[in-house]
Amino acid sequence: MSNEEAKTAVAESTNHPRFDFDFHGLALDTIFDDYKVMQSECPVSWSDRYGGFWTVTSYADVRAVEHDTDTFSVAPSMILPSFGTDRPLIPLDIDPPELVAYRQMLLPFFTSKQMDLLVPRTREIARELLDELDGQEVMNASRFARFVPTMVFGEYLGFPMQDAELFDRWVDDIVFARTEDESIARQAANDVYDYLRSLIKLRRHDPGPDVISSLLAVDHGGRKLDDEEMLDICYLLFVAGLETTAGTIRSSLWHLAQHPQDLAALAADPSQIPTATEEFLRALSPVQAMARTVKQDTEIAGVKMRAGERVVLAFGAANRDPEVFECPHDIRLDRPANPHTSFGVGAHRCLGSNLARREVNVALTEFISRFPKFELAEPSPWHGTGRLALRRPA
Ligand code: HEM
Repeated sequence: MSNEEAKTAVAESTNHPRFDFDFHGLALDTIFDDYKVMQSECPVSWSDRYGGFWTVTSYADVRAVEHDTDTFSVAPSMILPSFGTDRPLIPLDIDPPELVAYRQMLLPFFTSKQMDLLVPRTREIARELLDELDGQEVMNASRFARFVPTMVFGEYLGFPMQDAELFDRWVDDIVFARTEDESIARQAANDVYDYLRSLIKLRRHDPGPDVISSLLAVDHGGRKLDDEEMLDICYLLFVAGLETTAGTIRSSLWHLAQHPQDLAALAADPSQIPTATEEFLRALSPVQAMARTVKQDTEIAGVKMRAGERVVLAFGAANRDPEVFECPHDIRLDRPANPHTSFGVGAHRCLGSNLARREVNVALTEFISRFPKFELAEPSPWHGTGRLALRRPA
């Protein structure tokens, strides 16, 4: 029996649609095939993983759930399984109306204009990292993909950059190891919280020109943020800001390494890179899905859900919904309209999208300008943090 048959066989033995959906680890290797089956056979289905959840796969239903904050809550967390902590990540795990004030307070740090100011430093960092790869016939691009966001965002937040290697190790343990061994993620989360506690204390006494120092001074509804709020905001920024963008740089390079025509087109005309980035975000999003919790009994696409049940919004499936995207499984770098859901679409829409877009655009522009031709040197998955070995043809 093939994997697909095994997954749909479960559905036949029960009276509500079931599909053994997973959106982490090795499951990402075949997730796009899963979406095809789910969208045609069971657009809303139940999976027993991670305590059990409904998966919603159509573009229209994902949008509807995102906008219906009366019926669907982000508590206890959008992150399933958790990032090693039971504390709410702020603002991700906060429902309206409290959400609104947190977002208003954070938005000025991430405006388009503010993020433009980071572009020259991003370029400088990208070039320094590329210098390390120069002269290597086979280069591991994974380090480049990870360190551009780590350095750019770490500096902006006010993290001591001599600890950059440590940050990446923690992100690995929190984001990637959590589905294999939860205790690894818990330990790393504790370590990050301890680190942040010391850093926040340091910045209180010795502020710098960075986000953490500015957050300590910000007015939040007539008061200052307390230490616990600061911790939960900084923890979210730390995890959300590093791994996601790194994943997009990686998957973009992975695609280009196997599509010489796409690579040649971007090398010949780098002004196409921002449009291509949107397509990479759509088709190979690093965040394939996030969770909500049903607040009151409801129904989606004829499937009844009870209060307390978890619902997973498969952004990656919505991005490949044939009702919205022509030939959704093709990667077309010049796709004219691209209303993807990779940054979310509702009250919690990603606050870092301006930053992420700039980081990916600069990273790809610099990489392609330095290495206009490259190919995969060994099979590598599109996702994850493992080696991405690229060879430059002689
Ligand atoms: C390619 C990179 C990224 C992707 C794909 C991504 C994706 C997402 C998604 C899907 C959400 C949840 C949206 C929802 O449920 O409606 C989110 C929220 C968030 N992201 Fe990102 N993100 C990326 C980069 C970043 C960066 C660089 C930052 C750093 C500032 C960041 C900060 C946040 C924050 C603070 C939230 C919570 C917003 C809220 O709850 O109101 N993200 N992101």
